Amino acid sequence: MHDEKRKIMITGGAGFIGSHLAHLAVARGFTVEVVDNLVNGNADYLADLPPDACRLSVVDVRDTDAMRDLMAGCDVVYHLACLGVRHSIHSPRESHDVNATGTMSVLEAARAVGIGQLVFTSSAEVYGSACSGPVVEQGELAPTNAYGAAKLGAEGYARAFHVCYDLPTVVLRLFNTFGPREHHEGDCGEVIPKFLLRANAGQPLVVFGDGSQTRDFNFVEDTARAILEAGLRPEAVGHVINVGSGFETSINDLARMVIDVVGNPDVQIVHEAPRPADIARMCANGTKARELLGYAPEIPLADGLRRLNEWYAAEGVTVDDLLTEECVHNWVGDEVAATGRLRDGAGRAVPTT
Ligand SMILES: NC(=O)c1ccc[n+]([C@@H]2O[C@H](COP(=O)([O-])OP(=O)(O)OC[C@H]3O[C@@H](n4cnc5c(N)ncnc54)[C@H](O)[C@@H]3O)[C@@H](O)[C@H]2O)c1
Repeated sequence: MHDEKRKIMITGGAGFIGSHLAHLAVARGFTVEVVDNLVNGNADYLADLPPDACRLSVVDVRDTDAMRDLMAGCDVVYHLACLGVRHSIHSPRESHDVNATGTMSVLEAARAVGIGQLVFTSSAEVYGSACSGPVVEQGELAPTNAYGAAKLGAEGYARAFHVCYDLPTVVLRLFNTFGPREHHEGDCGEVIPKFLLRANAGQPLVVFGDGSQTRDFNFVEDTARAILEAGLRPEAVGHVINVGSGFETSINDLARMVIDVVGNPDVQIVHEAPRPADIARMCANGTKARELLGYAPEIPLADGLRRLNEWYAAEGVTVDDLLTEECVHNWVGDEVAATGRLRDGAGRAVPTT
């Protein structure tokens, strides 16, 4: 089956996870059509791939006609394009528009073209407050923010297109993914890059709440491997599958691990008020991923942290420069705009003055 599906589309392929998926797919001999409007992506992340193996089209996934044209000749679509969780807190309608309505456009185009298999990357945020330990896919769903709600709506559309129109769809619920090219900036900034950069600069690590909240951190190369498999295995069609490491780490423990990796014991951990609607626990039960995708994570958290830290060191950019793009309370629109990392619906930077 693997050999029959040779050309794939990756929406959001110039982003963090999508660019790793593109590199993995090209290394495995696939031709890759990337669609990304570059609102948060970076064409440089794909620049080292041969042009005949990977093409980037700067297109918005909500443009169904353009998506249909670009999908012609593709065997599998991986739909990763999205706006993130903190963006949804200051801009819930735009989050709905891209994450739910945009998925509808992708599904409509895939149906029109007769795509062989479509993978939608949902999120553990759909479990929301219902997650109280390693969670199985059949569990309760209680998103606490517009991002999780839009992802849940989009999951429903992916399932409906499978049942109603026989479009072979697979839904993956990704847990926190980390690694090189992960966002540190603006409202995309994630906890691990923010902690690593701050620890390297000797600045305090800011924990929102008491730090007992847990997350399941999966290294990006592991996540990309699971995603690729989900588009190649017919037995995955019609399923919802968790993709995580299966290990639960508190934010306090993460902060201590980062300080250890960076080797700067003087770095302080400070606590501020919790982020609105933050989730207490998140961890994947990985049984279905193992059974349906043959997937098992390979890179432990501490090794992944070291690799990410080495990647920053090799990039040739100073941590102080990178930290100028960081926004501490990056779910608050005004504060994100003040860093120059808040975009409008067309991907333009919102002026900061
Ligand atoms: N990173 C994580 O920890 C994590 C966790 C759970 C789920 N996910 C899911 O994985 C997928 C990839 O996430 P990521 O971390 O790589 O995010 P990312 O922001 O790096 O990548 C998303 C890409 O989508 C592009 N994009 C946004 N709106 C678009 C639009 N309207 N049209 C075309 N392109 C558009 C952005 O420019 C960006 O390159 C997303 O669907 C996300 O919900 C990620």
